[in-house]
Amino acid sequence: MIAVEGGHGLRGELTVQGAKNSVLPILAAAILCRDVSVIENCPRLEDVDASAAILRHLGCRVRWVGEDLEVDSSGLSRWDIPDGLMRRMRSSVIFLGAILARCGRAALSYPGGCELGPRPIDLHLTALRTLGAHIEERGGQLRCRGERLRGTEIVLSLPSVGATENAMLAACGADGVTVISNAAREPEIMDLQAFLRKMGASVRGAGTSTVIVEGGRPLHGCRHRCIGDRIAAATYLSAVAATGGEITLRGVDYRYLSTVTTALSQAGCRISSDEQHIRLRSTGRLRGVCPIRTSPHPGFPTDAQAVFMAALLRSQGTTVFVENIFQNRYRHVAELQRMGANIRLEGRVAVVCGVERLCGATVRCTDLRGGAALVLAGLQADGVTQVEEIHHIKRGYSDLTGDLARLGAKIQEIEA
Ligand code: EPZ
Repeated sequence: MIAVEGGHGLRGELTVQGAKNSVLPILAAAILCRDVSVIENCPRLEDVDASAAILRHLGCRVRWVGEDLEVDSSGLSRWDIPDGLMRRMRSSVIFLGAILARCGRAALSYPGGCELGPRPIDLHLTALRTLGAHIEERGGQLRCRGERLRGTEIVLSLPSVGATENAMLAACGADGVTVISNAAREPEIMDLQAFLRKMGASVRGAGTSTVIVEGGRPLHGCRHRCIGDRIAAATYLSAVAATGGEITLRGVDYRYLSTVTTALSQAGCRISSDEQHIRLRSTGRLRGVCPIRTSPHPGFPTDAQAVFMAALLRSQGTTVFVENIFQNRYRHVAELQRMGANIRLEGRVAVVCGVERLCGATVRCTDLRGGAALVLAGLQADGVTQVEEIHHIKRGYSDLTGDLARLGAKIQEIEA
């Protein structure tokens, strides 16, 4: 449980952790070769531990060397992921394309749903079938064969991040050229491309809607420093925006969260950024902004919706949010309402009317970013807020409590 006392401004400097949504597909990519790869700037997260457990199950050796994670996939001997490991992390389906490319077959169970609503993988399966994989779905199990994947054109019906990544990884093991159209454009996909190119793969176009892979290249291990986590950065910027104060962030490319910094500026924060830093100053009294509509990159990231909402709970004015990516990504709203937030929900629309004061309460995390939003609400509430079920937060933040404490928050983790 996290206990946080509201009413304290925040100030200081912070180096942002490595990007969770970069590291997870890169850990899957590491099995494409029989070699050792090192991922620098790897964040210590529950989801990274879950990925390491899958890699070890497959026969890889995984170990921390300081802040770097070393993966030796030369001993990979299995191609199945048991149900328990699949359910531990929703995005474990990202291993499917890589296992298929390496082993020619794969067996795994359907990934569990998650707090954000159903997490279908139809686009992943269609992409792999287009490359020639035979996938049988029965009883929650997926049995896949694909000894000879063939490069071709894959057209994604929507720019799914995970499906784009699965297609890229499988295409590395296919003969010939694969063109992925309507690909997701997230920075984490550009980071995956950078890792694959260091392995010797021929991948280009990441960051645009068309990614091209020339498969069948001999691949080798590499050393790669993953990019900073833009959503963690958005979380810390939103925290200081809400409490008032000043923060300088290092280790994240400001261009990757420009829609969030633009919204924070509209809310009244003063923001400056250069190649190395993002600096934000806030009086703590924000104003409502134009409607926030989440959309695929380079639009406003769905992962920043909850934390930006938390920053506006005491703003002057009203802000409309439209969550266009996930069906059920407002579960933090009911918990925020317990603290006195004035939010009205209508399906995908949330209308946030700023209130003068929030009241500390005992609240419960519902998902990773919703949990972070509850902590941000606690930073600006009267009295103490107790945030429970914080394992959700640990999936994506290496040390949210410690980082906020170092910025001056009165916050601590208490063993429940
Ligand atoms: C990735 O999830 C991220 N996770 C999510 O971050 C992020 O919210 C999401 O992309 C959107 O940016 C990782 O990268 C590990 P999608 P992913 O496929 O790949 C639907 C966090 O908080 N869809 O782009 O699962 C899907 O239901 C996490 O860090 C299908 O219908 O997202 C959703 O509505 C949460 N069929 C939409 O597409 C499919 O086969 C976007 O999903 C796949 C997706």
